[in-house]
Amino acid sequence: MYLEKLTLTNYRNYESLNSDFSFQVNLLRGFNAQGKTNLLEAIYYLAIGKAYRSIREDQLIKWGHHHFSIKGQVKNKIGQTNLEVFFHNQQQVKQLRRVKRVQKEIKVNGLKVGRTADFLSNLTAVLFAPENLSIIQGSPTERRKLLDYDISQVNPSYFLQLQQYQQILKQRNHLLRKIVQGRGGLNELEIWNLQLKNVSESIIRKRLQVLEKLTPLTRLMQRKLTGGRESLEFKYYFNRKKEIKNGDDLSDLLDREIKRVRTEELNRGITLWGPHRDDFLLTVNGINLKIYGSQGQHRTAVLAIKLAELEFFKSESGEYPLLLLDDVLSELDQERREHLLQIIQSKAIQCFITTTEDVSSFWHSKSNFASFYVENGVLK
Ligand SMILES: Nc1ncnc2c1ncn2[C@@H]1O[C@H](COP(=O)(O)OP(=O)(O)O)[C@@H](O)[C@H]1O
Ligand SMILES: [Mg+2]
Repeated sequence: MYLEKLTLTNYRNYESLNSDFSFQVNLLRGFNAQGKTNLLEAIYYLAIGKAYRSIREDQLIKWGHHHFSIKGQVKNKIGQTNLEVFFHNQQQVKQLRRVKRVQKEIKVNGLKVGRTADFLSNLTAVLFAPENLSIIQGSPTERRKLLDYDISQVNPSYFLQLQQYQQILKQRNHLLRKIVQGRGGLNELEIWNLQLKNVSESIIRKRLQVLEKLTPLTRLMQRKLTGGRESLEFKYYFNRKKEIKNGDDLSDLLDREIKRVRTEELNRGITLWGPHRDDFLLTVNGINLKIYGSQGQHRTAVLAIKLAELEFFKSESGEYPLLLLDDVLSELDQERREHLLQIIQSKAIQCFITTTEDVSSFWHSKSNFASFYVENGVLK
């Protein structure tokens, strides 16, 4: 799929942007702090239906304004689709005493969409930014987020399950607190266990299936990028400790874990099992990459995962997502850039690449290419 047009109004440092893009490589060049990352972030917003990196959405409004909007004209397998996000600062809305107090509105082809899940599959994108090294170096939360964002884009029902899970978890935690405070409720616990267990099982199963699919694809991309023969593998850890694989009996596993942590839960008043406590890691030849790998190895591994995701998205949805690469070119040597370009060019992938260097001579001769100069929120 392709993003044909993007229109931004009062988004970050863009007051007003209206631009067409190439179906292949779009190079966004400019000095630091000019709005390159902001532009990728706006495109990614259209893909995931919310701000990336858990930023508060009102922080995306251009300073001194009351609202922002992002509009994208997308060409996907269904045809041409217009996506629109509109966000109004609630505080301001109240002050203006507007009758309709909408804060956020998302539309597909002019029609309001109630659930984010119904917005997601219209535009899919894989983003690679420097902070994605946290997939290897960061906390379990960061890794789960990677999986959850990406599965959600091609599998909106997974997104709904995650939302459902959060709700049930909140209620179960509430109940546990009540029990700890001696205000009764122990008889209800069984019902919540069952509910949480059911959603947990679906979420964990999906994650395991996805990691299983991603493993050979990631290996292949790693090989294409480096020519190396390293054997990459994902390991999924149930409740942070126990390694599990696709096909394991999750129902039995959950039952046993629910029993095992029961006393502690009733002491502490929080839920101590479920997909919000799981983790996965990447190993190379059986060794944890986090501990063993160099910074460069981490970067290549994460890039390989992201490139593998292109294939994963394609296999799930039938078409390639957009590829958004923030500040990666400067980190790659000439050979890896060449490999990267080959990978992109060999498929019908639209790509947005930010860079502070002038690399156009390298890319120019080789692909359908558009180069933009980004300066202070203006694209030239
Ligand atoms: N809500 C906002 N309103 C106006 N400017 C913003 C807002 N948020 C960030 N900026 C500005 O955007 C610029 C950073 O843009 P960014 O896309 O990260 O730059 P880069 O080109 O280095 O990737 C900074 O100058 C920052 O002050
Ligand atoms: Mg940047």
